[in-house]
Amino acid sequence: MDDLKAKYLGQIADAGDENALEAIRVAAVGKKGEVALKMRELGKMTPEERQVAGPALNALKDEINSALSAKKAALADAALDERLRTEWLDVTLPTRARRQGSIHPVSQATEELTAIFAELGFSVAEGPRIEDDWYNFDALNIPGHHPARAEMDTFYMHRAEGDNRPPHVLRTHTSPVQIRSMEKQGAPIRVICPGGVYRADYDQTHTPMFHQVEGLAIDQDISMANLKWVLEEFVKAFFEVDDVELRFRASHFPFTEPSAEVDIRCSWDNGQLKIGEGDDWMEILGSGMVHPKVIAAGGIDPDVYQGFAFGIGIDRLAMLKYGIPDLRAFFDSDLRWLRHYGFAALDMPNLHGGLSR
Ligand code: DAH
Repeated sequence: MDDLKAKYLGQIADAGDENALEAIRVAAVGKKGEVALKMRELGKMTPEERQVAGPALNALKDEINSALSAKKAALADAALDERLRTEWLDVTLPTRARRQGSIHPVSQATEELTAIFAELGFSVAEGPRIEDDWYNFDALNIPGHHPARAEMDTFYMHRAEGDNRPPHVLRTHTSPVQIRSMEKQGAPIRVICPGGVYRADYDQTHTPMFHQVEGLAIDQDISMANLKWVLEEFVKAFFEVDDVELRFRASHFPFTEPSAEVDIRCSWDNGQLKIGEGDDWMEILGSGMVHPKVIAAGGIDPDVYQGFAFGIGIDRLAMLKYGIPDLRAFFDSDLRWLRHYGFAALDMPNLHGGLSR
C-alpha cells in the first residue's frame, strides 16, 4: 500500500494537464483501478487482516482522490494565469475608427464654419424649412409683387381648395431666421443660422435643395467695417490660408441697404482652384447693412439699432475647399462618392486642433 501511495501521489504531482490526471484517476481509483482490485482481495483475508487492511485502503483511496482534486484545481489556476498573462487588453487605447460611416462634406463644412463663428461670438439659431411666406418674403422687405419672388423659383406648399390663408413655402433662403431670431432674442444679437433651403433649379452648381448659412449682428454701433473684418476672419480660418483678398462689390438685396456681394481672390491652374492668389475672383456670398424695415419687422427699433447680415452657400464653400466639381453628386447618396469625399466620424473640427485634417 505504501508503494501504491508513493507511485500515484508521485504521478499526480508530475501530471502536466487534466487528461494525464484523468488517466491516473482511472488507473488508481477507477472501477477497475489498482485500489479497487486491492479492495476485492479483502474477501480472501482473515477478519483480523481485513480490519486493518479495509480502513487503510479507504484512507488510501481518499488520499489519492484529494490529491487528484487539489492537483486539478492547481492546473486550472495555472491555466487561468497563463490566459491572463497572454490575453491582455489596453483599455486606455482610443477606439478604432470604423470606416462604415463618414461625415458628409456639407456637415463637415457646417461644423467648421460653426466653430469659426463661435470663436467670433456668434451663437447658432435655427428655423423651420417649411416657412410662412411672411417670414420668407414680406418681413424681408420683399412684398407680393417684388420680382425677387419670381427670381427665387419658390416651391409653394399645396393648400386645400377654399383655404385662402397666405401660402407656406419651402424656404428659399436662411434669411427668414434673421426675423425669427430678432423676435425671440431682441437686440443686441449675434447669430448664424445654417440650414437647408429650396429652389426649383438643377444644373452642375444648383440643386433643388442646398444649404446656406445666414449671419446677423445687430447692436447700436455696428458698421460695414465690422462686416468686412468678420468676413475676412471667417474666410482666412475656413480656407486655412493667412492671406486672402476679398472684394466688396456694390449689389442689391431688398433686405440690406447698402448691399454688397463679396468675391474672393483665386486662381485656376489646370482646373485646380487656389484661394488667396491669382487674377480671378469668385463670388462667395451676399451681405449688407440690414434694412431698417427688416429690423422693424423683427420687433427691434431701427432708430436705435443697426447691423449687418450675410448669406453664404455652404455647399459652395465645401466644393471650393475640398475640390468637388459637381454639386449634384452631393445629394445622390452614392456610397463610393461618400467614401471618397467623406470625413472620419471622430474628427471634430475646431480652431485649435485644425479644421479639416
Ligand atoms: N438671402 C440671399 C440669397 O439667398 C443671400 C443674402 C444676401 C443674405 C444678403 C443676406 C444678405 O443676409 O445680407 O441669395
